[in-house]
Amino acid sequence: MDVIGQFPLFYFPEYGSAWMMGITGTIHILASHTSVGAAMLFAFLAYKAYKENRSDLYPYMKKYGMFLLIFSYVIGSITGPGIWYTATAASPRGISALIHNFVWVWATEWVFFVYEVIGVFALVYFIDKIDKKTHLKLTYTFALASVGTLALIIGIISFMMWPGTDAFYTTGSASDAFFGINTFPHMFLRIGFMIMMSGVIGLVISSAMKKENPELSAELSKKMGYVGILGGFLTTFFFMWYMNTLPENAHAVFTISKESIVQSRLVLMGLFSLYFILVIAKPRFLNVPIASVMIVVILIAGLWPGEKLRESMRKPYVAGQYIYSDQIISRDVPGKKIKSELPAIAEKGLLKLNPFIPDRLRTITDENRLEAGELLTKLSCSNCHSLEKTGKFRPLKDRLTGMDKEGVMTILHTIGEGAFPYMPKLKLPEDEYDAMAEYISSQQY
Ligand code: HEC
Repeated sequence: MDVIGQFPLFYFPEYGSAWMMGITGTIHILASHTSVGAAMLFAFLAYKAYKENRSDLYPYMKKYGMFLLIFSYVIGSITGPGIWYTATAASPRGISALIHNFVWVWATEWVFFVYEVIGVFALVYFIDKIDKKTHLKLTYTFALASVGTLALIIGIISFMMWPGTDAFYTTGSASDAFFGINTFPHMFLRIGFMIMMSGVIGLVISSAMKKENPELSAELSKKMGYVGILGGFLTTFFFMWYMNTLPENAHAVFTISKESIVQSRLVLMGLFSLYFILVIAKPRFLNVPIASVMIVVILIAGLWPGEKLRESMRKPYVAGQYIYSDQIISRDVPGKKIKSELPAIAEKGLLKLNPFIPDRLRTITDENRLEAGELLTKLSCSNCHSLEKTGKFRPLKDRLTGMDKEGVMTILHTIGEGAFPYMPKLKLPEDEYDAMAEYISSQQY
């Protein structure tokens, strides 16, 4: 092997490429989860409206549907492809692994998605135009399509954490990759969260109806309060199950910041429980500004840390526990005819094997040592640590405070041996370690 399958490095100064993923992902999740949650809520409301002959519920559904169209589907459809672009730049081999394992699952998901997008237009448009029974059936298929997109995507995303079965490595089969032990807890966890989100968003719309129809607004706010509590309870319950289905490396990362995570989750759950209970007890006090602020709260205090946590717990891997975050294949996967690249890198070094290294840096000399060291550090560490003095993302300087070249050299060797469960094992030839240590120590102040 004289070359390893690499792509050009996407280097994002200060914040790191992983944060770019996180930001796009968080916004997308807010939109997509709302849409799936709302699809289930829609089916429930349509059922009630039909069974109890409550035609007063239809205007609410129409408003909710319009909001969904604008909020979830526009934002969702922009940030969805946005994730593809960002992930392709930040983690090309991670995306490649997903495509190679799940190409037909993606294709199926897109069929559901297209149905979902057309469905939401049809639902809103046809509310008063077709008979109620047909409309009810339409909402059912819409809800099924929405949950279908979720179920398929979650199988894929769960594989990023780990396949969850050893069989995958020998068979390489899509179903072994898809049905890992954490797929279902992850799916239910997200369904719980979606239900909660549909309640949180539903409250914005029910409170907006206060002027025109205070009775109905209060009744619906109350209902949304119950929906929110149910969702919150399911999320918490399945989160605990989910945590028990994660690989060892995930627990290693989780333990580092366990206390603050658990504390902040408890505060958040407390806050939302209080919110829902207040809404149920005194629905008339709720207004649009408060209800809207709660969406922002859930975005910033709930989703962002949640996604960051999932991202960190996957470390050192980006997908399937065979591709590291630094884009190197770390183990053999006979089922996919994939070979670990670690032995070749240990022998020949990254500068020789990565096809995108400028020729002047292929061989380390006294003149180019710092530059080569900088490039090696970017290749090996920047996916998880900011290298800049003012960097915000797990900055390397804070982890190596006051270390001279010798100290950095020792750390690099330790990382190379795989002593830290959350960092990629990376054995390099001595001259490459030396160049990195020279560069990193020259950046300490
Ligand atoms: C896959 C992601 C990842 C990569 C790549 C990575 N690290 Fe880390 N590193 C982490 C995580 C996670 C932690 C632990 C949490 C923290 O310190 O914030 C960490 C911690 C550290 C620490 C503190 C060690 C400790 O736990 O006491 C040092 C030093 C460090 N990294 C250096 C490096 C260097 C040098 C590189 C490049 C060769 C590198 N890391 C590459 C994820 C990574």
